[in-house]
Amino acid sequence: MTYLERDFVTIDLTALPHDFLWGTATSAYQIEGAVAEDGRSPSIWDTFSHTPGKIARNDHGDVACDHYHRWREDIALMRQLGTNAYRLSIAWPRVLPGGDGPVNAKGLDFYDELIDGLLDAGITPSVTLYHWDLPQALQDRGGWPERETAEHFAAYASVVAARLGDRVGHWTTLNEPLCSAWIGHLEGKMAPGLTDLTAAVRASYHLLLGHGLATQAIRAAVPAAEVGIVNNLSTVHPATDRPEDIEAARRMDGHTNRWWLDPIHGRGFPEDMRNLYGVELPSKEGDLETIAAPLDWLGLNYYFPATVADDPSGPAPHARSVRRLGVPRTGMDWEIDASGIETLLLRLTDEYGARKLYVTENGSAYPDVVRPDGTVDDPERQDYLAGHLAACASAARRGAPLAGYFAWSLLDNFEWAYGYDKRFGLVHVDYRTQARTVKGSGHRYAEIIRAHRGRARHAA
Ligand code: IFM
Repeated sequence: MTYLERDFVTIDLTALPHDFLWGTATSAYQIEGAVAEDGRSPSIWDTFSHTPGKIARNDHGDVACDHYHRWREDIALMRQLGTNAYRLSIAWPRVLPGGDGPVNAKGLDFYDELIDGLLDAGITPSVTLYHWDLPQALQDRGGWPERETAEHFAAYASVVAARLGDRVGHWTTLNEPLCSAWIGHLEGKMAPGLTDLTAAVRASYHLLLGHGLATQAIRAAVPAAEVGIVNNLSTVHPATDRPEDIEAARRMDGHTNRWWLDPIHGRGFPEDMRNLYGVELPSKEGDLETIAAPLDWLGLNYYFPATVADDPSGPAPHARSVRRLGVPRTGMDWEIDASGIETLLLRLTDEYGARKLYVTENGSAYPDVVRPDGTVDDPERQDYLAGHLAACASAARRGAPLAGYFAWSLLDNFEWAYGYDKRFGLVHVDYRTQARTVKGSGHRYAEIIRAHRGRARHAA
């Protein structure tokens, strides 16, 4: 089979390479639980989620999906889906409970065993070093607005790479630094919960500096490593054709996309956005070169497009999101537009010269329920998945060097400020019993993967 056709969606599987990585993704704080076990110290997310009023229903990650104890069962689920890759993140506070200083052997042992389990199952691990869970000890010393946090991040990267690098070839420094900097330090909706533009801009700078330093550290420990960074990007559209709204869309593109892409490509921080923020960057000589350390691949997390209007009195970047009427949305109230993923993959290829791309996250939340017959039917998520995969294949056909796709997420999990109410998994989790049930979308994903493998075998 070359084209997979169902429900009016056609996925051109011929456009995807034979060795395509079909994966799922998760992150440590969202699934592991066991927050006080085996020497782990609190992260900023433990602090934030235990601050009353910050998270819906005051949910927290103390137990989450109990993956820390159930990881073998979760690898069995990956096998059931037929995936050949898994994107996980390492909890910094498990490995270095003080942020720097002594290594916690038990923390590293957990990931060591997990990696072996994945490899035994024929699943390629893709390791992310930072998915937002900064050790609280470092936050107490100033966190990402301070330069020393970037330096400690590189030291932590060295420790992890030295231990896992004999078996892990695929490394990500940061996941979605935009969320850490803008949502965590400017909007206050994520840990550490600040609303301070100066802190946010300084955090963004040190996150990218940390990325560059960690890239060097990984390469020193694992010369053959393939290193990349994962950004969450959006297509940005003006709400009207008024010049003010067109200008607002340009600013939002700077805030969401260019601020994160330009520096890692050696273009520095965009001048227009520097002027707009009006915050002095904490630069030192050589930083821009460090930030632009050559990468092997770029990761794209894509969920929704943005439509914005001018908002002169609003916070930076003075552009407010406009809710378009009559368009389909997920349970997050996020607009669905599969063409956005294609546009962004092609932009990374054409404008930034990407040589290898992964979709490192893509998915949708809906209020799924287990039916009396024990199944979970999620037709909307199936449509979202198939539609976005079709768009990815189309981007590949048009020249984007797409090497893999990681569905967000393997499991329903702790969706940050939204708590457990928003379910993104291909596998349903009953948080009372921890029972896992593969949803219809999980079966659909398995079917697509099988079809691609069948084609690859046929072509060989
Ligand atoms: O759950 C998050 C993930 O941690 C980072 N990317 C977006 C997902 C859905 O909101």
